[in-house]
Amino acid sequence: MLHVNVQPVLETPRLTLRPLRRSDAPRIAALCSDFEVARTTARIPHPYGLADAEAFLDLAAARDPARELDFALDMPGEGLVGLLGFFGEAAPATEIGYWLGRPYWGAGLMTEAVTAALAWAARDWGRTHVRAWRLDENPASDAVLVKAGFLYTGERRQTFVLSRGEFLPSRGQIWLA
Ligand SMILES: CC(C)(COP(=O)(O)OP(=O)(O)OC[C@H]1O[C@@H](n2cnc3c(N)ncnc32)[C@H](O)[C@@H]1OP(=O)(O)O)[C@@H](O)C(=O)NCCC(=O)NCCS
Repeated sequence: MLHVNVQPVLETPRLTLRPLRRSDAPRIAALCSDFEVARTTARIPHPYGLADAEAFLDLAAARDPARELDFALDMPGEGLVGLLGFFGEAAPATEIGYWLGRPYWGAGLMTEAVTAALAWAARDWGRTHVRAWRLDENPASDAVLVKAGFLYTGERRQTFVLSRGEFLPSRGQIWLA
């Protein structure tokens, strides 16, 4: 198993994937306060304010980067446009999650970010497989995962969606390095 003490910066054609900073809080709050962003994620609450972003950044800073880490997705001229995180399982597995601010949807940005992050996780972070869970009602995330090379595992489960206070059906997908 490989360990990283210093999180890398990854470059894609349009994005820089970099470690989070405390100064990201206002931008994260602005983008995550949109219910359309929160409603298909498990863990973004709604309403969402600056204190929620600061609490998230505190938690993220306390994580062991050998096990769990988040990348800010930065776009030149825009700043932070979204987030991508690996969490949950211990190496050689991990789980991926992500969101993008609504003004940036539909341009292939998350597929670009996920593809770069997967390549790094396999090459430098010792991950041989990456899991994802997405709501049945989230075809955009399904498209991202399929374009990035994920397969369906056939697993189904009810996922609690914080912003809506209810369990909703979701399915498991997996990427094999
Ligand atoms: C899911 C999300 C990250 C997608 O980001 P994105 O940069 O817009 O994704 P991409 O542009 O790379 O790909 C989106 C694909 O979904 C497709 N899509 C979008 N809405 C769709 C819909 N309602 N039905 C079917 N396909 C849809 C797009 O056409 C595109 O596919 P294509 O490139 O083959 O045309 C973004 O919508 C988001 O942040 N949503 C809210 C948070 C969230 O759901 N996170 C994931 C939790 S599992």
